[in-house]
Amino acid sequence: MDGTAPEIIDYYTSVYDEASRLSARSDGRLEFLRTQELLRRHLPAPPAGVLDVGGGPGVHARWLVADGYAVHLVDPVERHLRQAESSGCGTELGDARSLTAADANYDAVLLLGPLYHLTERDDRVRALREARRVLRPGGTLAVAAISRHAALLDLAAIGRLDRDAADILSLVLATGRHDDRLGFTTAYFHTVGELRSEVTEAGFAGVRIYGVEGPAWPALKGIEVRTGESLTGSPLAESALLAARIAESDPALLAASSHLLAVAQSSSQT
Ligand SMILES: C[S@@+](CC[C@H](N)C(=O)[O-])C[C@H]1O[C@@H](n2cnc3c(N)ncnc32)[C@H](O)[C@@H]1O
Repeated sequence: MDGTAPEIIDYYTSVYDEASRLSARSDGRLEFLRTQELLRRHLPAPPAGVLDVGGGPGVHARWLVADGYAVHLVDPVERHLRQAESSGCGTELGDARSLTAADANYDAVLLLGPLYHLTERDDRVRALREARRVLRPGGTLAVAAISRHAALLDLAAIGRLDRDAADILSLVLATGRHDDRLGFTTAYFHTVGELRSEVTEAGFAGVRIYGVEGPAWPALKGIEVRTGESLTGSPLAESALLAARIAESDPALLAASSHLLAVAQSSSQT
């Protein structure tokens, strides 16, 4: 196994400040609120031990600690660990595919990010198996993926879908593989079926998949980016949140969300 690709470390260290992604714009705020409500619905009650793998700057760790969870955050980007320190969680430099935690040590594992950046299926399943190894039997996994259609909806909404972008996008749609030509960095964008199959192959049971942002996030982002005016707290933002809740389990609308969240339970080790 190679370490995290250098361009991914560089992206989060020098190009993009992940610490403000879930608060700077209302589509990020929608992702935050929906992820938070889905986690609160499914996590075991506090005080449970939560391993936040790929936890980044600790935006979710902060409220989890405030809710009473004992959170340990693992991430390969040193800048993120420094940013996460003030959230009250433990921090550790590491990789989702090779965790240092002992077997059966956590009540819940979050993987809200690592699968975005592992372009090989074997690596993604390996990360999921590691999550299962460190979970107590019956423990809860919550794993996020970027939806295969996220870049198409994003570029169209903000008016950046020209012919060049469409050519690159056609490869993303066909393969799931995404490089830095459309912004972001090396990434993998999942179909719903792929996410389900990877989580199942790693040995989890009871897999449920939710759409996080629902079908109205492109309207929020498109209007906000093009007008420069914040929509946080607006009727449109409230409608988008309600739409996400209504559509969260609708198979026909799952792929309209920018992110998918799979929740599952660890079964006996194999
Ligand atoms: C988009 S950020 C998400 C951060 C946070 N979990 C959230 O949901 O807001 C993706 C995170 O995954 C981390 N990451 C990338 N590759 C990883 C890997 N192989 N193992 C663990 N984390 C990884 C990145 O450093 C980054 O912090």
